[in-house]
Amino acid sequence: MDDANSNSGAGCEASPLRPDITPSAIVRYLDQYVIGQDEAKKTMAVAVYAHYRKVGPARAEAATTTKSNVLMVGPTGTGKTLMCETLSRAIDVPFVTADAPSLAQTQYVGDEIEAMLERLVDRADGDVLRARRGIIFIDEVDKLKAVGGQGRGVSGEAVQNALLKIMEGAPVKLRDGRYIDTTDVLFICGGAFVGLDQILTRTHSFGFIATSDGENQRILDRLNARVKPTDLFEFGLIPEFAGRLPVVARLGDLSREMLMRILAEPRDAIYRQFRELFRAEGVDLVVEPQVIGQIADLAIEYKIGARSLRGIFEEMITPALYVVPDRKDIRRVVFRSLFEDADFVCG
Ligand SMILES: Nc1ncnc2c1ncn2[C@@H]1O[C@H](COP(=O)(O)OP(=O)(O)OP(=O)(O)O)[C@@H](O)[C@H]1O
Ligand SMILES: [Mg+2]
Repeated sequence: MDDANSNSGAGCEASPLRPDITPSAIVRYLDQYVIGQDEAKKTMAVAVYAHYRKVGPARAEAATTTKSNVLMVGPTGTGKTLMCETLSRAIDVPFVTADAPSLAQTQYVGDEIEAMLERLVDRADGDVLRARRGIIFIDEVDKLKAVGGQGRGVSGEAVQNALLKIMEGAPVKLRDGRYIDTTDVLFICGGAFVGLDQILTRTHSFGFIATSDGENQRILDRLNARVKPTDLFEFGLIPEFAGRLPVVARLGDLSREMLMRILAEPRDAIYRQFRELFRAEGVDLVVEPQVIGQIADLAIEYKIGARSLRGIFEEMITPALYVVPDRKDIRRVVFRSLFEDADFVCG
């Protein structure tokens, strides 16, 4: 078998791609790109670490561990897809994403699943053995109920049944006649599951216990936050499907402070990207902290998590970006309020 670490470090200098990778190293890597969501980060890191131990370069002793597919639950725009994409860069295994509703929009869900596995093999440079140890991220599984069943598509339930098979580890025939065994593939499913919290408070008998001890309260909170397969039934997930996602990573709403950090802190933060863009014009871009706060406030109103940040930021910056290339005398552009024009400092 070839070395699973063969393209380590590709395009990613901060990657902890080492045989001695640990969950905390994965979290530290995630911290560079994903703000907050600490519990979810830990859960994901442990699941992916376990997968890596099972299939990665140091796989020997943990080879018999059964796999724990993961369900990521959290409001829209709070970092589910981002976390998965970042994880895929953090560890060196082939990774593909698929969108559950689009799997249901075809007549033959089997073809779509085959295509998804073909992509996984592509990501592994055609090496089926390497693809067998990959990760498949299926997004928006909570939308499976609403789609299909009518028109040309198949029902969400048919999609779940098809996914069930490969989650269990069925050999799937590829176009070139080779087979890929999916037993060791790690499946991560994601969804916003709007309203899940209400369902949880209804279905958990210990929902109202509180203790004075902080540590115990944390454990209780965690129990309270546990999602049972039956809780997912209302979203159209059949119990067999939900039951194959034993690990649940929950993401929370983003606070004002987190939204502010998202604008400026991650390695690829919006503010950094635009500072870079202005720097290429020989201009120093300054967005004062109160403006970052105003943008966060607006984003909270839009209720789509961090997703609206970029649009708001770009709208603010566009007039300045229009002017700057014509004006070689401008040295500095300073934003002091989201609702006022920028100051141009010439030199
Ligand atoms: N916790 C976070 N840290 C840093 N950036 C974030 C975070 N959450 C969201 N973002 C930003 O918002 C964008 C959208 O987030 P993402 O795609 O991860 O949302 P999602 O949780 O998958 O939402 P949906 O349920 O709608 O698919 C990301 O590309 C990223 O720029
Ligand atoms: Mg997403």
